[in-house]
Amino acid sequence: MKRLRNYVLYIFVLLAYQFAAVCPVTEKEILLQFKGNISSDPYNSLSSWDSSKSVCQDFSGVFCNPAGNVHKILLWNTSLAGILSPALSGLKYLRILSFFGNKFSGNIPIEYSDIDTLWKMNFSSNSLSGQIPDFLRKFSNIRYLDLSSNEYSGEIPSALFRNCFNVKFISQSRNKLSGSIPLAIWKCFNLLGVDFSFNNLSGDLPPQICDISGLVYFSVRNNGFAQTVEEQILRCKSLEYLDLSSNMFTGMQALIRAQVAIRAQRALIKCFFVDIYQNIQDYDISNIEESSASGKLIDWHDEEGFPAENPSPEIVDQECQ
Ligand SMILES: *[C@@H]1O[C@H](CO)[C@@H](O)[C@H](O)[C@H]1NC(C)=O
Ligand SMILES: *[C@@H]1O[C@H](CO)[C@@H](O)[C@H](O)[C@H]1NC(C)=O
Ligand SMILES: *[C@@H]1O[C@H](CO)[C@@H](O)[C@H](O)[C@H]1NC(C)=O
Ligand SMILES: *[C@@H]1O[C@H](CO)[C@@H](O)[C@H](O)[C@H]1NC(C)=O
Repeated sequence: MKRLRNYVLYIFVLLAYQFAAVCPVTEKEILLQFKGNISSDPYNSLSSWDSSKSVCQDFSGVFCNPAGNVHKILLWNTSLAGILSPALSGLKYLRILSFFGNKFSGNIPIEYSDIDTLWKMNFSSNSLSGQIPDFLRKFSNIRYLDLSSNEYSGEIPSALFRNCFNVKFISQSRNKLSGSIPLAIWKCFNLLGVDFSFNNLSGDLPPQICDISGLVYFSVRNNGFAQTVEEQILRCKSLEYLDLSSNMFTGMQALIRAQVAIRAQRALIKCFFVDIYQNIQDYDISNIEESSASGKLIDWHDEEGFPAENPSPEIVDQECQ
């Protein structure tokens, strides 16, 4: 009898498990859990996130695909504070997560690496801290990763670049990162843009800087780099915007000559823009009238705020006048 009871109990538990497996939480429940981890919403940006409302039609900042699954969450300049709920990893069709201009703290939950569909992640201008999460390498589909203007510290983990051949744009600008740029970054051979500006990085630029054939944009402005750059830069094929300003690079005289030469070579294609301002004064300032010595930044983002596939030639030309 006891045996039978155990058996029945066993079957019951098994069924309960199966029920849970075929009946996961709904996307609405997931988003409400996310909202539950928001500790401050000063502009009531999430007031429409309500269990009586429709996710796809009413939840502000939430966009669905034609099949009715959440594929994009855009919460910009909403000053939301709190932690990033791990529950979001249950959104199996999510492609874009863009939380620019909030006050999310803590770090990106490791659970997010389960979102295979994720394509763009923009956590720029938040209060994320700790180490740059190296599990980001598990996002095999990620193209755009913007962690700029947070409070990340420590070194950039080399493992981050272990699986990055789809990545096109990485920004870790305006954090508190130290150490050097991991050599492994040059495995990301589809990169178009890299921005490590305004950190405390030092050491050498990876020697393969120009092996990424499509690299257009590279900025290490305002760090502690201190080597001679001439030779590497001469090998760059597609670089259009290079910002080395506010470091301690040497060899700038040669770089200016190289820049003039490269510009002449590419006169019919696009200009080559090197910003060398505020490095060691081993050059004569009268020689740099050709190059822009100011801290101009080319904005090559599309209207959605994501970097365009390529910076438009018009913008680049204009900036190089
Ligand atoms: C986040 O929400 C979950 C419930 O969804 C809760 O268990 C957890 O304590 C919350 N964490 C914080 C820091 O608010
Ligand atoms: C965010 O707010 C700042 C300051 O008010 C503004 O300059 C910027 O254009 C806003 N950005 C977005 C994406 O809404
Ligand atoms: C910057 O990095 C150097 C080592 O490379 C370290 O000595 C220094 O304390 C760091 N500065 C800040 C402000 O973190
Ligand atoms: C992140 O969002 C901000 C605001 O829209 C934008 O300026 C920035 O370019 C975005 N980053 C990426 C990688 O799309």
